[in-house]
This record gives sequence, structure tokens and C-alpha cells, in this order.
Amino acid sequence: MDPTTIAHPDASAVARLLSSIRTHGINFHTNAPGSREALLESLKSLTSLLETPNESILKYMWIESSHHAVIRTAIEMKLFERMAEDSATTKTDEELAVRCKGNSLLVARILRHLAAMGTVIETSARNYRLNPLSTALTMPNYRDTFTFCFDVIRPGLQVLPTYLKERYYQEGEGFKVFNKAFNYPGSLFAYLVEHPKLMSTFNNYMAGRNQGLVSWMDTGFYPVEEGLAAGFDMRHSPTLLVDVGGGNGHDLEEFREKHPKVQGSLVLQDLPEVINDITALDASIQRMPHDFTTLQPVKGARAYFLHSVLHDWSDEKAREILKNLIPAMVKEYSKILIQEVVIPDKEANAMTTGLDWALSCAVPGRERTELQWRELLELEGLAIVKIWSHPQSIESLIEVELVN
Ligand SMILES: C[S@@+](CC[C@H](N)C(=O)[O-])C[C@H]1O[C@@H](n2cnc3c(N)ncnc32)[C@H](O)[C@@H]1O
Repeated sequence: MDPTTIAHPDASAVARLLSSIRTHGINFHTNAPGSREALLESLKSLTSLLETPNESILKYMWIESSHHAVIRTAIEMKLFERMAEDSATTKTDEELAVRCKGNSLLVARILRHLAAMGTVIETSARNYRLNPLSTALTMPNYRDTFTFCFDVIRPGLQVLPTYLKERYYQEGEGFKVFNKAFNYPGSLFAYLVEHPKLMSTFNNYMAGRNQGLVSWMDTGFYPVEEGLAAGFDMRHSPTLLVDVGGGNGHDLEEFREKHPKVQGSLVLQDLPEVINDITALDASIQRMPHDFTTLQPVKGARAYFLHSVLHDWSDEKAREILKNLIPAMVKEYSKILIQEVVIPDKEANAMTTGLDWALSCAVPGRERTELQWRELLELEGLAIVKIWSHPQSIESLIEVELVN
């Protein structure tokens, strides 16, 4: 008998998992923090215990890969938007084919796989309606998260094994997977400047990827009052926070909404093309084109904030970005706040290990462990004050100050 086709679940392990699922389920019912996440982890473990190796392989390569391509197709043909029309009533595959101007057999096949994967609801034979996931896919931030990852990261994943083999599995000075996949010599950001539509997609992706997660500016994560607001001193600068490489400004918008009473101005910096592409940003946030490979022009701010910026770059480049901040900082006053994934040495979450590889398909950087962050940041003149984390966030906030 072929061993890959037989499930060999250890019955006592299955029983233990079922019992922990029951416990997490009860906790979930009472809204206990972390119970949803614990339930999901146990369900994932149960699935991998019960699946045969062959089922797992075919799930990855047939079922999930096709699902991704089918969702991408549905986004492009605006299938989810058509499903949302007329108060999101249930619609037949034929009706949706007419609304999308697509072939009815093809649309039926798309809907069938979407329903089989739980992306839409099949209310009865050939009748479909949206669920929370497909509703989210009608919204620009979620839709563009999917689109950007499919269009830019996926081609990189396709060439990744050959790329690594050609480099004898050495990391060198930073990954160039994107360059191989797109046959393009420059960085992702240079490519985005040349492709404005993709740049808007990327900026929506950046704004959308953390929706629903706890953020460092929420209660119970970083002490915004004591750490930032209380010490603010106009004599150094009127600026409280500079968001360096801040994209379309969604983090500063969130800060302004969550901490409306905190004094000091907010400054958003990014490449000129990104700043000029912004369509909606509160007028109180100052927009400033600035290349972070040059010296920081805003002197004496209370904090310089870098969110998912350093992970885009090799250690050498990341150090250059940090060194450009140091001359602008006031000792014992200014700080650098870095919002990034900190991968633990043990039991790393798949969301972060997956992101690590996805990231390397688009930029030369990678996600870093705590030790790697310490090695990077403890340059001459900088020191980590504390790494702030929260169980409901995959990112931490690394607080850094000037020393000497
Ligand atoms: C991964 S995105 C993060 C955006 C934002 N901080 C966030 O977390 O949503 C990196 C940002 O760095 C910006 N960037 C890339 N090269 C830059 C440069 N030389 N100077 C300033 N910003 C740059 C990009 O345009 C992009 O907005």
C-alpha cells in the first residue's frame, strides 16, 4: 500500500486536539482574548494530523493555487462587485455571467470553485451570494492586497527556487528575485514609479494589510501618552512624529484619529511620486517629498517612525537609512520607532515566516529575528530601549534612542 495515501493519525493526539478545541470553543463563546487564534491553531494542527500526504500535496498544488488564480480572475472581471449589486441579493451563475459579460460555463466554473473554497456562499444549486471574505474583496484595500501579491509576489515565488539554486543558496547582499522575475534592473519602488497604476495598488495594499489587527497606538501596546506625548517639547521642533517612507499616510491618519488631543505636528515623507499620488489625507498632516537615502530634513522631532521600511532592505542599506536620521535627532529627546515583524527563535507564526519569503520576492530585504534586529540597530550611537509587542499583532514596535 502506498504510504502517502494513508492517514496515520495518532488517535490519542486527535483526542487531545479535540479536547483543546472544545476548551478554546468555550472560551471563544465568552469572548476570551486570544481564544479565536488558539482555536484556529488547533484546527490547523488537527487538519495536518488527519490529512494524508497526498491530500496535502494536492491541496497546495491543485486546490489552493487554482483558488488564487480564480479569485484574481474574479477581481479582474468585477464578479464580486456584480454580486454586491441590488443589495447583494443571491444571484444565479447565468445572471452573473450576463452582468460580467463573461461566458456562462466559465463563470459557473469560477463560482463553483469559489464556493467549494468558502469564498462565496452557494445558497442552492447554481445560486450564490457574498460572504465576509468576498465582500472584503470588493473594497479597494483588500482587493489590492490580493492583486498586488498575486501580480508581483507570485511571479517571484515562481522563480525563487531557481534563483536560490543559481546562487548556491547564499544570501549575499540582498535578494534580487524581483529583478529576475520581472527582468527589470531597478528596485520595486523604481518600477512602481514607472507604473503608476501598480503604485496605487501597492499603496492600497500597504494601507489594507494590517486592518483588523491591534496597532501600536492602541491601548495596551505602546504607551503613547508617556512615551511620546508627555515629553513633547516645542523648543526642539513643532513636529511630534515624522513618518519616514510612510506611503499614503494611513498610519498618521490612524494616529490622528486615535490620539486627537496629542500636541505637535505630523509629517508624512515618501518619494515625490507617492506623495503626489495621495488622494485623501487630512489637511493637518504635512506632506513632504523626501528620499530617505539622504539626510533627514526635519530636525529635533519627538519621533521618527519607520513602518515596514527597514525590512525592505539589506542590512547595509537599512543602516544607511538609519544613519541619515541620527544628525536630526536631539539626545535624550528624539527617538526612532520601528514597526516591524520580530520573528521569535521558536514557534514562529506562519504569517510571519510566509511574509518573510513573500517579501524577499519583491524587495532585497527579509524579516528579522530579535537578534538580527539587535545586530542591525546597535550601531554606534543607537540603542534599543524596548521591543513592544501584543498578542493580537504580528508586528512589534522597536523603540530606539540615541546613546553617547
Ligand atoms: C513597504 S512600504 C511601507 C509604507 C508604509 N510605511 C506602510 O507601512 O504602510 C515602503 C515605503 O518606502 C517608500 N520608499 C522607497 N524608497 C524610498 C526612498 N528612497 N525614500 C523615501 N521613501 C522610499 C516606498 O515608496 C513605500 O511607500
